[in-house]
Amino acid sequence: MNGQDKGIFYQLSHKYSLLHQTKFTKSSMLAVSHALEDIVISSGFKADMYVFFQHFKFFIEEIDRYLELAKICNNIYIFTSDVKWNELKQPNYPNNLIIIELNSLSPLIQEWNVIVDYRPNPMILATRELDEQPDLINWEREPQTMNQDKLPGKDDFRAFLGILSFDTKTALDGVKLARMNVPENSLADPAESSLLSQDNSNLDSKTSRDIDTTTYFINRALNEIEDKTIQLKRANVQLQEEIKNNKRTSYEMIKRLCFAAEYRDVETALHLIKMSYYSKELYRAYGANPTEVELMTYASLTHDIGKIGIPDRILMKAGRLTSEEYQVMKRHPYIGARILQDSSQRLINMARNICYYHHEKYNGKGYPLGLKGTDIPLEARIVAIADVFDALSSKRVYKQDFSKEKTLQIMLEERNNHFDGELLDLFFEIVDELLEFKFRLENLSMHKTNTELLNLYLQEIN
Ligand SMILES: [Fe+2]
Ligand SMILES: [Fe+2]
Repeated sequence: MNGQDKGIFYQLSHKYSLLHQTKFTKSSMLAVSHALEDIVISSGFKADMYVFFQHFKFFIEEIDRYLELAKICNNIYIFTSDVKWNELKQPNYPNNLIIIELNSLSPLIQEWNVIVDYRPNPMILATRELDEQPDLINWEREPQTMNQDKLPGKDDFRAFLGILSFDTKTALDGVKLARMNVPENSLADPAESSLLSQDNSNLDSKTSRDIDTTTYFINRALNEIEDKTIQLKRANVQLQEEIKNNKRTSYEMIKRLCFAAEYRDVETALHLIKMSYYSKELYRAYGANPTEVELMTYASLTHDIGKIGIPDRILMKAGRLTSEEYQVMKRHPYIGARILQDSSQRLINMARNICYYHHEKYNGKGYPLGLKGTDIPLEARIVAIADVFDALSSKRVYKQDFSKEKTLQIMLEERNNHFDGELLDLFFEIVDELLEFKFRLENLSMHKTNTELLNLYLQEIN
């Protein structure tokens, strides 16, 4: 840095401070600095830009802006610390964009200013980071370290040192151009407004000029914040759309897995639908929110998906399984969990837990791990109840359906044995409504194929 530059900083820090007492948050100061840069760009001011950053990453984030400014300005000096030269792709940068690395302890990196070299009367916008947070909390400043990220609150406040000009006309031209650029803001009439001139030091008119200038920059900052908010809202809508798409894809995947299972005769569609309905309704009664209930609707469909990996001679066997065959059959929770493991999605994780743990028993006598009580994930404890209830209350090739009373009696005997007692109590509270659904579904199944039924069910619950 040459002697002339040092002189400018001396002036900024000690002498010409128009709005010295005004505090801004750093985000509004960024908007203010953008405002001034926009004026430089749109007006084609011949400008020297001196820009100071605390962090090199800010420069990288703003690089497009400075490339644009480099087309107009004589030179752009970026004073920054902790430069990662390999991120710069230096050859692509114009020669007049000059990066000067400062020691991160240098007080200069707490300054920001733009000098518009509108000769013979340069104009300067200057801000400075505060050493202390103003008046809000008892803020204790940590000693400065090389890691600027660690300084609490330091990034949050800056003082606006003001717009300095050595000539009123130059400053007014700047404001006039700014007004054309941002017509909706409430700038004072440039004819009545003036910025600090070296020759003009009348205190009363200075105060009113201060307000005009401040109003302009605050309004400009607000406009920019509003623009950013709109952008953010748009991005949010897009994100929501993506999330919806993701959800649809996951549901679609689960559905197709079910079709695959059905193709191999793993479980009937009728059983899957009832299981899914009973599980989600019990989950709802338990107090799960609608999103979780929806996940359960789909996740529970997969509970026996692991049976895809069981050999036909065992899976399709009409008679009783031998104890060896039964041992093979008991691998289906593990196979299901393998199919669905390592997903980052809540739905798939829930499905994986259901697959893996739906044959665990509350008293620890289930399989495959012999987990006990609430060590068994909630979703699996719920599905266990729904699965057994449907097995007991439905007709199967090898058995008649039990009456409601008989079914409930058998299940009650398993309170805190096979089933989580509290969940079972809740289940009994809603069981009549579940049986109504079962009745309606079984009637409907006389006229529909399994695939049609499953599709119909999934369409209706969405
Ligand atoms: Fe199973
Ligand atoms: Fe089942």
